[in-house]
Parts: sequence; C-alpha cells; structure tokens
Amino acid sequence: MSGVNYSEKIPNNVNLVGDRTLQRALEHWQPHFIEWWKGMGPSDFQSADVYLRTATSVDAQGWATYGTVKMPDYRWGIFLADQQAGRTIGFGDQMGQPVWQQVPGEYRSTLRRLIVTQGDTEPASVEQQRLLGHTCPSLYDLRNLFQINVEEGRHLWAMVYLLHAYFGRDGREEAEELLARHSGDADKPRILTTFNEPISDWLSLFCFTYFTDRDGKYQLKSLAESAFDPLSRTCRFMLTEEAHHMFVGETGLGRVTKRTLEVMKEIGSDDPARVRAAGAVDLPTLQKYLNFWCSSSLDLFGSEISSNSAANFANGLKGRPDESQYEDHVLREKTLTLAVPAGDETVPMLNALNEVMRESYLKDCEIGLKRWNRQIERAGFSTRLTLPSSRFRRTIGAWAGQPVTPEGKLLDKTTYEKQLHEWIPSESDRAFVHSLMRKVTEPGKMAAWIAPPERGINNLPVEYEYVKLH
Ligand SMILES: [Fe+2]
Ligand SMILES: [Fe+2]
Repeated sequence: MSGVNYSEKIPNNVNLVGDRTLQRALEHWQPHFIEWWKGMGPSDFQSADVYLRTATSVDAQGWATYGTVKMPDYRWGIFLADQQAGRTIGFGDQMGQPVWQQVPGEYRSTLRRLIVTQGDTEPASVEQQRLLGHTCPSLYDLRNLFQINVEEGRHLWAMVYLLHAYFGRDGREEAEELLARHSGDADKPRILTTFNEPISDWLSLFCFTYFTDRDGKYQLKSLAESAFDPLSRTCRFMLTEEAHHMFVGETGLGRVTKRTLEVMKEIGSDDPARVRAAGAVDLPTLQKYLNFWCSSSLDLFGSEISSNSAANFANGLKGRPDESQYEDHVLREKTLTLAVPAGDETVPMLNALNEVMRESYLKDCEIGLKRWNRQIERAGFSTRLTLPSSRFRRTIGAWAGQPVTPEGKLLDKTTYEKQLHEWIPSESDRAFVHSLMRKVTEPGKMAAWIAPPERGINNLPVEYEYVKLH
C-alpha cells in the first residue's frame, strides 16, 4: 500500500519528492493546468462548494475520500495502482518476459502516441461539458457532472505524469499541447472526432457517459494489460474512477426512461407529441440519441482491419480488455472472418483486434438497454430500445460512409440521406430537448423530464445540498 504526501504541491504516490527534476517540471505544468481549468473547465461555479470525492491513496479506504471543496482547489494527484512483484508480459510475442519499467527505444513513439491519444480525451470531455451546469436538472446531477469533470482532469494529470517521467523533452511538449488543443476548435481540435461533438444538453451527457466513457473503460482496460508497467498501473487506477462516470450515464438514462413512462401512464398514451407536450422525452427521441452516441463511440475503436492494432498487440503495448479471460495470448495462428461491404473477408486475428474489442464493448452496452427495456415492459408498453448496428453511420473502417440503416441493412444513398433524420436527432429534436433544459437548484428537486435517483451520494439523502451555490 502506498501513502500520499499531502505536504507536497502535487499529491502523489510515485515518490515525486525523490526526483527533483520531474517534480519541478510538473510544478511548472501545474499553473498551466489551473489556468486551463479556469478558462475551459466548468463555466461559472468555480466558487461553489461541491461535495466531491478525492483520491488520497489507491487502497480501498483512500481512493474515495468525500468532502466539500471549491473546484479550483481540488487536489488533483498522481496515483498509480501498486506495483505487482514479478509481473510478466501477458500477451504478444514477448509473453512471459518481465514487464518494462522504462520505455524501450523501439516503441517510444508508438507508446507516446497511445498515451497522448488517451490523454487528449480527458480534458476534451471537460471542455465538451463546460456549459452544462447552467441547465442542471438537480443539485445531485450537478455534483455528479463536476465529479466527472475533476476526475477527467485527474486522468489528464495521470497521462501528463507518464509523458514527463518517461518521454523527456518530447513528453513535456506533448503535455503542453494537451492544454493547447480544444474540443471543437477550428484550428486546433481534439484528436478524436467524438471529442469534438458539442454536448449541450443533459440527455447527450447521459449518452456520452454511457457510451463514450465506456469506450474509455475499454481503452483503459487494454492499456492496463500493457507491458509498459507504469502505464498499466496508471490505467488500472483510473478504471476505479471511470466506473462512476458510466454509473451516471446508465442511471441517468434509466431515470429519463422512468419519468417518460410515468408521463405515458398519466396521459394514457405513447404518442410522442403528447409525451413531449407533457414535458418528457418521448421514447423515439431517446432512441435517436442512443443511435447517435453509440455509433459515434463505435468509431473510437478504429478500423476493423488494422495493422497498428496487430503490431501493438504483438509488441505487448496494448492487449485486449481482460486479456486473461482468453486462451490464446499470442494469436499467431488464429484468423477471423469479418463481414465487409464486398462480402466476407478472412484476416489474421491479430489484425482484427479492434473489431474484437468493439464486439465486447457492444455486449457491455447491452446491459443498460436490457434494464431500460424491462422498465418499459413492466409499464405495459411495447416499445423496445435497441443499439444500432455497428455498421451504422461509421466514418472509420470498412463500413465508413456506407448507407446502412440502424438495423444494419444497406440502402441506396438517396433513401439513406432522406431517412437519416428518423434515426438520429434532427434539428427540431435537439431544439425540443434543449427546451426541456431548465436549471433546477432547490435541494432534492428534479426537473420535470427526469425521475429522482434511487439514492444519494455516499449514503447521503437525495435532498442533500450537494452543491452550495453562492
Ligand atoms: Fe477519463
Ligand atoms: Fe470518464
């Protein structure tokens, strides 16, 4: 178990005090981070007292310490899961050899790119969500938003630590760039498309935390397998925090569904126009939001057939999520048959790992849908929510730009374009959802379009004043 030295400027369990050069470099980056937070983090609310959890160590007691804090004073720290003695590489051509405590020269630029790409998503999501506080459906939800935001900030710290500690001057330059790119910026956008999509309503936030943070979970899980041990340990600890982000998405969408069903029962109809008139999100609109965010997140796994993912696996840089559940960890003999627009194609399994990850991700996404559909069934309605086909609306890979329906059927382009607004939110759908977004800040009160949560945070009641506005 590793302790934390809170007398230092940067809370950490990496013995920062023992490496003055690294400590100074990070202390130099810290004010830039705070400046970024104040400029690009949650708009307003910087002086609000927020009930937040902070990681003070990586063991069960310390990783979630709750207290009231103003966000700019949050103790962003550097925490790695404890080192496992004798850990060996769990996959690829160097399987069974000791893991690396330093970056091997031949993998330096690839590892740096993996870390920068992961790191870029963390501040990107904070930027995407920065205006949502103004339309929060409750103080409970506002607090959850800010919890996610400060933790994404901490994940940025985690990646910046790796860049500074293991990649020398290029690493320091990359760390500055992570604060210079901005979500949706015309000149310097974030690296991945999904992280440039604006999130201007809470339905989108719940979809984002359900689908896109779950992609994050899968990326972190595959990097947690890495032979580069500091990266593995960093990601293993980030996963503990990530679970809450997906909880916010899953329960958020469940609460939206619950409220919609209450309204449908009250008015005795599932007519979308009447549901909307009664102030709730109709189920067809919810389905469109699911289609949009799921398809957008599927692109994050990359092309179905990828020589990069093959090399990353063979070299031990990036494994499959939960690598130990598989039998074959080398994959030099296996193939996989994939459906591509031209027909079936059989490729070496090593080259199809993005698709393997995407498939297991989609299975994980099904869990929430099953739950929400049970709610709908119990309420006596026949609508069922579904995930779109992994070929729908893709912009990367074999199915990029193909006119495919959410059910996975190929159409002609004209029909597809005419029908697209039936499958993803149209301008008027978005305008309707925006019209519901009204700030509710009375403790315990909820906006009319969402049901209250089943319980509060850390055993506190739902009515607790989770954010004290001044
Ligand atoms: Fe994150
Ligand atoms: Fe997250």
